[in-house]
Amino acid sequence: MLHDALTKHPVISATGLYTPEHSISNQELVESFNTFVELHNSRNADAIASGEVEALHPSSVEFIEKASGIKARHVMDKKPVLDPEIMGPRWRERTNDELSLMAEIGVNAARDALDRAGRLPGDVDAVLCAASNMERPYPAMAVEIQQALKIDGFGFDMNVACSSATFGIQTAADYIRAGNARSVLVVSPEITSGHLNWRDRDSHFIFGDVATAVLVEDAAMAPSAHWDILGTKLKTVFSNNIRNNFGFLNRASPEGEGKADKLFVQEGRKVFKEVVPMVADMIIEEADRLQIDPQSLRRLWLHQANAGMNRLIAQRVLGHEADADESPTVLDTYGNTSSAGSIIAFHLHSKDLSPGDTGLICSFGAGYSAGTVFVRKAA
Ligand code: COA
Repeated sequence: MLHDALTKHPVISATGLYTPEHSISNQELVESFNTFVELHNSRNADAIASGEVEALHPSSVEFIEKASGIKARHVMDKKPVLDPEIMGPRWRERTNDELSLMAEIGVNAARDALDRAGRLPGDVDAVLCAASNMERPYPAMAVEIQQALKIDGFGFDMNVACSSATFGIQTAADYIRAGNARSVLVVSPEITSGHLNWRDRDSHFIFGDVATAVLVEDAAMAPSAHWDILGTKLKTVFSNNIRNNFGFLNRASPEGEGKADKLFVQEGRKVFKEVVPMVADMIIEEADRLQIDPQSLRRLWLHQANAGMNRLIAQRVLGHEADADESPTVLDTYGNTSSAGSIIAFHLHSKDLSPGDTGLICSFGAGYSAGTVFVRKAA
């Protein structure tokens, strides 16, 4: 929606970030994965020789870096992920009286955003928890985060995979435009280590854990240093190329337990080929609608899934190969953090821009889903 002076005008007042303390380098990850491969192959040597079981192949640091641009990722629980006999996070189940894990990191990111905006929780009207996975079906994570922050209002969860945060920003902006809320927190706790199959060579390096928060508010109450939201656009096109079949209808069945398709699976090549043109066209069309010359965009904060995809999208949008200043990456240290990726990039790489500079926050991922949020620095 285009903003005009008579309607309420949504802005981004501040963003917040929570980064888990532990990080896993490609070297550490590959060492652990390759030990797992050796163990599997030696334990199944006879079955592999007779053709009943397939031998596994080792991973490599060089491949990971070249194919994705990822050098490390943060995780909430490092030890069991790197243990070749476990290969996944193992959390103590918390009681109903304790703050749940997703809520805890979401609250940390939200507090960071509130502090930066100089905002008290009592002034916030709504919390959206927008993420690729929810810790449980109900009560909503957003309501728990709302309660922990002592926010009086309402909250709900929304999942649009890697595009959850931009879909959350548009939803928050629409509440503000409609007058249903003046201050909305969009919180994205992404504990992607829980949905990643750490034993799958094709994807074991992809994801990392993090939480982000975006405070979307009516300009009339926002701090003077904020980002005007010039326009938002969302798009979804069904695809099976990124899929996770985990769900309450199949988790309990014996054949569902432990199956790889109950975790993240993808056809990475197809995703790359199909999503790049879809997203580049979407950005150019939306820029045209907002009467913004895409080549004049000061910075692109793109979804952080793959450095090659970002290079191609940025080139199509800007008309030339983007440098790190025009299209910053956080993939090297964070990996793919699902919906939080473009928000981390915006959070870490926006302070140096000048008032009047225009940029784009853009997400894309499973669904397929894509979201654009054009912003202009106000002060
Ligand atoms: N270590 C070493 N080699 C590996 C490997 C690993 N960990 N994983 C795969 N390979 C091998 C493959 O076996 C293949 O070998 P072959 O050519 O002999 O068959 C080769 O490397 C290329 O594999 P491929 O899967 O085609 O790699 P790629 O260049 O497409 O890169 C991705 C893989 C996943 C990094 C890339 O496709 C991608 O990022 N796509 C976009 C995904 C995306 O955005 N998803 C959204 C998720 S939210």
